Formats: sequence, structure tokens, C-alpha cells
Amino acid sequence: MQASSYHTPVLLEETLSFLIKSKCGVYVDATLGGGGHAEVILRQLEQEGRLIGLDADEDAVAFATSRLTGYQDRLIVRKSNFREFKTVVSECGAEGIEGVLFDLGVSSYQLDEPAKGFSFRLDSPLDMRLDRTQVLSAREVVNEYDERRLSEILWKYGEEQQARSLARAIVSARSIRTLESGKDLVRVVEGLVGDRFLIKTLARVFQAIRIEVNSELENLKIGLSEAIDVLNPGGRLVVISYHSLEDRIVKETMKAAAATSDTSLSKFLPPATLQPRLRILTKKFVGPKDSEIRTNPRARSAKLRAAEKI
Ligand SMILES: C[S@@+](CC[C@H](N)C(=O)[O-])C[C@H]1O[C@@H](n2cnc3c(N)ncnc32)[C@H](O)[C@@H]1O
Repeated sequence: MQASSYHTPVLLEETLSFLIKSKCGVYVDATLGGGGHAEVILRQLEQEGRLIGLDADEDAVAFATSRLTGYQDRLIVRKSNFREFKTVVSECGAEGIEGVLFDLGVSSYQLDEPAKGFSFRLDSPLDMRLDRTQVLSAREVVNEYDERRLSEILWKYGEEQQARSLARAIVSARSIRTLESGKDLVRVVEGLVGDRFLIKTLARVFQAIRIEVNSELENLKIGLSEAIDVLNPGGRLVVISYHSLEDRIVKETMKAAAATSDTSLSKFLPPATLQPRLRILTKKFVGPKDSEIRTNPRARSAKLRAAEKI
């Protein structure tokens, strides 16, 4: 498969300009995907520069490894979740990191590959696991979670106004027959929501289930916090998010790490505890230019935020 049909990397120039300050040292691409960002990072780095590439999806690991064979001596690829960030980075022998990139969500390949079950536009099994070795899949969430839990997920992770009635409709449909495919779920939503709101509702329902299956928000919090810990002073953190729940976590995490701790506690805490750990480089997020959205419509919701370790 061509690299361009696997995934087109977004905000490429913007990512490089925030991420790379020193052309030597070790960088981490925590969401390797098709290796698009990784390739341009490696091209920018000098011979002494190294890149560690991580992805939870073995297809991404295999594709990016083969795409980047020319950089073998400067690249380490690991199938891993970014919730294990610190452990994996230390297993790779890296002591301090110059820059970390998180390009969140899923790749175009993952969305378009029917077997993965991420898209409501394809007739796919209810799966949605990034990591195929994981036990929990969309099939269990949809068929085994009780109505209250389903409703909570649709509300919390999909910000879906009709969470309760949708959860009730799912439970009623599955009492007649197990929901096996994405289309089975689409039919339940169609039974409740008019044509005008159908696509947006389906997008929210599928997003919510995907977030639950992959514990996306919890993993993001852990990954960001561990990445901040391992960055060298002056090292850069760049995060590209694609929906408001992710972006909120990125914004709040950076803000908290950039804040001086509560001064009312200053007499009880040692001075080191009161120091900010990050300097925010993007006061407002950076989004794609119109020209990028025209050539790659999937970039339209991208929001890039960057910070520097103090
Ligand atoms: C948008 S794609 C990255 C595309 C990549 N930047 C490129 O240029 O091809 C996001 C990737 O992150 C991976 N991913 C998402 N959440 C992850 C997590 N918690 N741990 C590891 N990888 C994750 C997905 O499997 C997917 O391959």
C-alpha cells in the first residue's frame, strides 16, 4: 500500500517547527500510524538524532517499519500503548527526550479498513480495538453493558443529547438479536433519529464506543503526564487532537503543568513543588490552513497545541 493511501499526516510543517529545536538527541512519536510524521522528523534530524516510534496497532507498526527501513539505524519501533510511555522509553535505552509528538485518534487506514469496525459507513464487525490482543471490543460494550452504563458512555464520550433513549433502543434491539455489525448498530440509531441528524448522531455514537473500548481519555492523561516527566529541560511536547474531549485534556494538562502551584501553600511546600514545569507555546491552538483542508478534509478538526519543558 502507498504511504499516501495509508494516512496523510496533518499539520506537518507546524508540527516540525514546534517539535524540533535540537537536531540531535532522542525524539518520540507516540502515535506512529503510517509513519508520515516520523519520516519527516527523521529527515530533519542529523545522524546522531534518534526516533522512538510507538503504536498500539500492529498493522501501523508493520507498515511504518517497512516504510522507514531506510532509517533503521536511527529508529526504534515498539508496539505499545502510550499509557506505558515511561517504561517503553526507558526500555529503549533513552535517558532524556528532546521532543514528543502525540497525533491522536485513528489513521485513515484504520477508519477505512472494514475489519477494524471504526466507521459507521462500512459494514464491519463491531470491533474498534486499536490493539487486537485486547479483550474488550465494541461487541461487548454494545451487547453486554447495562442500559445505564451505555447511556453514560454515550453522554460522556459522545456528548450525545439522546444518550438515554439511544441506550434504551440498543438494549431493546439486542434483546431480540445480538448486534454483530456496525450496520446493526446503525439500524438502531436510524430507528430513533431522523435523516437530518443521522450522520452527526452516528459519528457521536461511534466515537463514544471507540473511546470506551480503547480507554482513550484515561490513556491520554497518563501518556501526557509521563511524556512531561521524561522531557529534557527545553524539550518540546506537541499534541494534535481531533475532538473537544481530547483537546480539553491536552489544554488542561498543559495549563496545569504551566501553572505555579497554589501560592497559599507556599509556606508548607518545598520550592521545587511550586515551579511550573511547562511553558505553553501556543496560546490558542493551531489549526490547518484552508489549503490543507482542501487537499485533506480529514485535517479539518485538527488542533495542535505545543509546550516546552522548563
Ligand atoms: C492519527 S494516527 C497517526 C498518524 C501518523 N502521525 C502518521 O503520520 O501517519 C493515530 C495513531 O495513533 C495510534 N494510537 C491511538 N491511541 C493510541 C495509544 N493509546 N497508544 C498507542 N497508539 C495509539 C493509532 O493506532 C493510530 O495509528
